[in-house]
Amino acid sequence: MKILLLGGAGQLGVELQYAFADIGQVYAPTRESLDVGGLFEVSKCIDLYQPDIILNAAAYTAVDKAEEEVDSAMLINASLPSLLAKKTSERGAILIHYSSDYVYPGTGNNPWTEESNVGPLSVYGRSKLAGDESVLSSHCRHWVFRTSWVYAAHGNNFMRTMLRLGLKHDSLRVVNDQIGAPTPAKLIAQVTSEAIRQQIPTGLYHLTAGGSTSWHGFAQAIFRHAISNGIALKIDPGNVEGISTQDYPTPARRPLNSRLSSQKLETELGLSLPAWDSQLILTLNELLEKKYPNASSGSDILSDA
Ligand SMILES: NC(=O)c1ccc[n+]([C@@H]2O[C@H](COP(=O)([O-])OP(=O)(O)OC[C@H]3O[C@@H](n4cnc5c(N)ncnc54)[C@H](OP(=O)(O)O)[C@@H]3O)[C@@H](O)[C@H]2O)c1
Repeated sequence: MKILLLGGAGQLGVELQYAFADIGQVYAPTRESLDVGGLFEVSKCIDLYQPDIILNAAAYTAVDKAEEEVDSAMLINASLPSLLAKKTSERGAILIHYSSDYVYPGTGNNPWTEESNVGPLSVYGRSKLAGDESVLSSHCRHWVFRTSWVYAAHGNNFMRTMLRLGLKHDSLRVVNDQIGAPTPAKLIAQVTSEAIRQQIPTGLYHLTAGGSTSWHGFAQAIFRHAISNGIALKIDPGNVEGISTQDYPTPARRPLNSRLSSQKLETELGLSLPAWDSQLILTLNELLEKKYPNASSGSDILSDA
C-alpha cells in the first residue's frame, strides 16, 4: 500500500507518519520538496508516486492571518482538497482529509453533529468548509474528519504556549466562554488508522476527545499537571483569570460553542473516545519524558531540538 502524506511536518502529520507506518509505505514530501500551493506540482507528484491512499494533513491554520491572506487560505484549504479529490477519483484511490469545528456558527450549547447546519464565522472557517464540500461531493472514496483544538507534544499549540507563558508570568488572562474539546494529534492519527483498518463507511465524521472545557479550564489543567510533575512554573493555576471573548479581541471571530459530537464515529468503531483531560496527561507526559527526563526545572521542555 502506497501512502502519500501532505503536511507531514505539522502536528497531525508527524503523528500520521507513525500511525500509518504499519498500514503501508508512507511518503511525506517536505515543504522544500513540494509546496502544496503549487497545484500543478501536487498533481505531478500524485501521477509519479501513484498512491493508494492520500492523507491530507496540510492546511493553512493561521486563523487570524487568514482574514488578510484570503487567497492563500483558500488555495491550501479549498483548492488543494478539491484537486486531491479529483486526482483520487481518477485513480480509484482513497482520500483522507481533516477539517475543523470552525465550520460551525458556534451558537447554542449542544454538540454539533455531522448533520448540523454549518455557518463559519471566519475566512479560515469558510476556506475549510469549501475544502470539505469539494471532498464530500466528489466521487472519490473519502473520509473527512472534523476535529477541534488540536495540540501535541511538538509543534505550535496552546499547551506549549501556555507552558512557555507559565514559566515567565505569575498571572495570566485566558478566555473562558469558548467551549470545546482539546484533542491530541496522536489520538486523531491513531483513530484515523483504526477507521481505515476497520473500513468504516466513507463520509464525514467528527473526531474529538471526550467531554469539553474552555480555554481557561484547559490552561488551568495544563498548569496543574505540569506543577504536579515538578515543573517550576511561575504561575499558580488559581492566578489564571477567566475573561470573555469580547475582552480578548482577535482579527478572526471564533465560535463560542465548538462542541462536536463524535458519536457517529464511536458507533462505527465500537469504542468510546477518551476524555480530553486524560489525553492531556498523556500528551504532557510525552513532552516531559522527551524533553525533561528529571522533571525539576528549566524551559528546555519547549525547545523542539
Ligand atoms: N490546529 C488546530 O487547532 C486545529 C483545529 C481543528 C482542525 N484542525 C485541522 O486539523 C488538520 C491538521 O492541523 P495541524 O494542527 O496539524 O496543522 P499544522 O500543525 O499547522 O500543520 C499544517 C501543515 O501543513 C503544511 N503546509 C501548509 N502550507 C503548505 C504549503 N504551501 N506547502 C507545504 N506544506 C504546507 C505546514 O507546513 P509548515 O510546517 O512548513 O508550515 C504544516 O506541516 C488541518 O486540516 C486543520 O485545519 C486543526
